[in-house]
Amino acid sequence: MAKKVILDVDPGLDDAVAMCIALFDPRLEVVAVTAVGGNVPPHLATRNVQAIIEQLDPPRWPRIGAASPPDHGLPVDGRFMHGIDGLGGCNFEVAELRTPHPSEKLICDEVRAAPESVSFVALGPLTNLARAFQRDPELPHVIDRVVMMGGAVSGPGNITPAAEFNIFCDPESARAVFRSPSTKTLIPLDVTNRIMFSFDLLNQLPDESRRVGSFLRKILPPAFRAYRQEFGLEGIHLHDTVALTALLEPQWFETKEMGGDVETMGELTMGATVFDRRRRPAWRQNMEVAFDIDAPQVIEAIIRNLNAAGEIKA
Ligand code: RIB
Ligand code: CA
Repeated sequence: MAKKVILDVDPGLDDAVAMCIALFDPRLEVVAVTAVGGNVPPHLATRNVQAIIEQLDPPRWPRIGAASPPDHGLPVDGRFMHGIDGLGGCNFEVAELRTPHPSEKLICDEVRAAPESVSFVALGPLTNLARAFQRDPELPHVIDRVVMMGGAVSGPGNITPAAEFNIFCDPESARAVFRSPSTKTLIPLDVTNRIMFSFDLLNQLPDESRRVGSFLRKILPPAFRAYRQEFGLEGIHLHDTVALTALLEPQWFETKEMGGDVETMGELTMGATVFDRRRRPAWRQNMEVAFDIDAPQVIEAIIRNLNAAGEIKA
C-alpha cells in the first residue's frame, strides 16, 4: 500500500529533485504538493510547483497548494543559489496558472480526509504546517508523521552562523511545529551536508528522452555552477532529496529522541535550533533527530530512485 504524503516545498533546485522521485515512486501517493515561500517568494514558489509538475507530467497529478507570505515576511531568499526564478534560470513555462487553494487549507483537507494516514514532508520553511495546526488544533494528532529538512544540532548554520535556512525563514512557525504534539523526524544539516554529489551525477541520470531525465539535465548544471561560484565546491548538496530519502529508506539513517526548540529572538542566533544535549536532559523529547547516515547508500538510493522515476511511463 503506497504511503500517502504531502510534499511541502519552496522550489528550489533540491526541492525539485525531491519531487522528481516522490511523484513517480510507487511507494508514495503524493496527494498534494503545497508551495511555501523560502528559496523564492511565495507567488513564485506556487508557480514553480505548477511548472515542475507540468514538466514531469507524473502518472498521478497531486493537488497543488498556493503559498502565502509568513506573518513577518521572508527575511531572506535562496536565489543566490537557486537562480532568479528558483529553478536555475530555466524559465519554465506554465501552461495555465490556476488559482489553487491556500496551502494550509489543502493540508487540513487532505489530512482530515485520511486520518492518521498522511505523512507531511517539509522541505522548506514551516509556515504552512504551523498555519494548518492553527487552523485545526487537533491536526497534530491526526497527521501520521512529519519529516522535516531543517536545523542543525552540533554543526553551523548555512544562512547565518547559527541558523539553517528553512528555520531562519520563519522561526516562529518552526517553534510552533517543534512544540506541537505531532510525531516528528528532523533531518538536519549535520547529516544532509554529508551527502555531496560530484559532476558524475550528470552521467548517472535517467535517459534524456524521459521527462525526468530531460528536466534534471536542465536544472542540475546551474546547481553545480552556483556551488562552484558561491563556495568553490566541485559538487552539490541536495538537502531536500536526502530528507525525502529518510522517509523512503530509513534504514540508512540513525536517529535518536531529542528535545529541541527554536530561537525566535536572538540578534545573532535568530532561527537557531537548540537541543538539550546536557548529561541529564530536562527538556521533553519532542522529535526523532537524524544524527548519522550511511552516505554511500543514500547517494546510491537517490540515483537509483531518480532512474526508477525515469522508467515510469507517463
Ligand atoms: O538549508 C537547506 C534548505 O534550504 C533546503 O530546503 C533548500 O531547498 C533551502 O530551502
Ligand atoms: Ca527547500
